[in-house]
Amino acid sequence: MTRVLRPTPSIIEEAAQVLRQGGLVAFPTETVYGLGAVATNDRAVARIFQAKGRPAHNPLIVHVADRAAASPLAVWTEAGEVLAAAFWPGPLTLVLAREPSAPISPLVTVGLATIAVRAPAAPTAQRLLQATLLPLAAPSANPSGGVSPTTAAHVVEGLGDALDLVLDGGPCSVGLESTVVDVSGEPPRLLRPGGVPREAIERLVGPLADVAEDAPVQSPGQLASHYAPSRPVRLDALHPAPGEAFLGFGAVAGAGASVAANLSPSGDLEEAARNLFAMLRALDRAEVAAIAVAPIPARGLGEAINDRLRRAAAERS
Ligand code: TXA
Ligand code: MG
Repeated sequence: MTRVLRPTPSIIEEAAQVLRQGGLVAFPTETVYGLGAVATNDRAVARIFQAKGRPAHNPLIVHVADRAAASPLAVWTEAGEVLAAAFWPGPLTLVLAREPSAPISPLVTVGLATIAVRAPAAPTAQRLLQATLLPLAAPSANPSGGVSPTTAAHVVEGLGDALDLVLDGGPCSVGLESTVVDVSGEPPRLLRPGGVPREAIERLVGPLADVAEDAPVQSPGQLASHYAPSRPVRLDALHPAPGEAFLGFGAVAGAGASVAANLSPSGDLEEAARNLFAMLRALDRAEVAAIAVAPIPARGLGEAINDRLRRAAAERS
């Protein structure tokens, strides 16, 4: 059985040791739990792909403690500096040109000329990075294509025995993956909406280009079906159909459904983000034909919530 442990100082030391020896450690960030390995170690990184069943062409995010630790990894741009200063540590990933001498396994960047870097804010993630003193590659700690984990129990449910250690820091405070912005060129481009709302980024660097729907895949989080529960998902529902579970928001609460949850009875998008993945998992476990979801406003974190819901509802390939 995988060991699941509270991140005391001695456990953090042990986790750092496991990582330095090429092990896999799942740890909480403020967005979702990550499946971490030392990003400079080819074999450790290969184990990440194997554990998740992740397609080999899907690059990983490199986690660092702070902006200084990211200096040797990437060629920094003005927009990158501005956004790192404003949002790091926090739920923002920056895609930059890869520094040619960066000691990162080529498996992490899958041969791309760019690298994705992020400094997470969650205390456990920070303490682990500071103890390990090496950059950590960490995708969300779920089987590829599934719903991301926001608790240690979700991690064990999905990846169980593939891990050496799970650090249990409680539920994630943001609950949605980081926003991914490509700041390697002008204008910056939004590759994945996430925990930092678009509006907050655009206030600092101007309008973000959107990645065209038909563009070649730059961020496989963009693949149509992703974050998918096993049951069909129906969006923008005002009422449950017979046999459907209902995921409500605000006053649209699914009266009459045999199974229902509400992302935020008060209509708060941050609360909804925090609840989204855990509630999708819970409804998916119920004996229902499908999951109907109330409309979610498009502003603020609503853009990322709607993005994840559209992918959960997309035709499975
Ligand atoms: O919040 C998060 O970002 C979580 C926590 C653990 O940090 N991590 C996460 O990782 O969501 P993952 O692997 O599930 O998603 C990483 C996304 C993918 O869509 C990937 O394609 C994109 O980042 N990405 C990574 N490197 C890239 C690159 N060089 N260029 C474009 N996209 C990249
Ligand atoms: Mg993921």
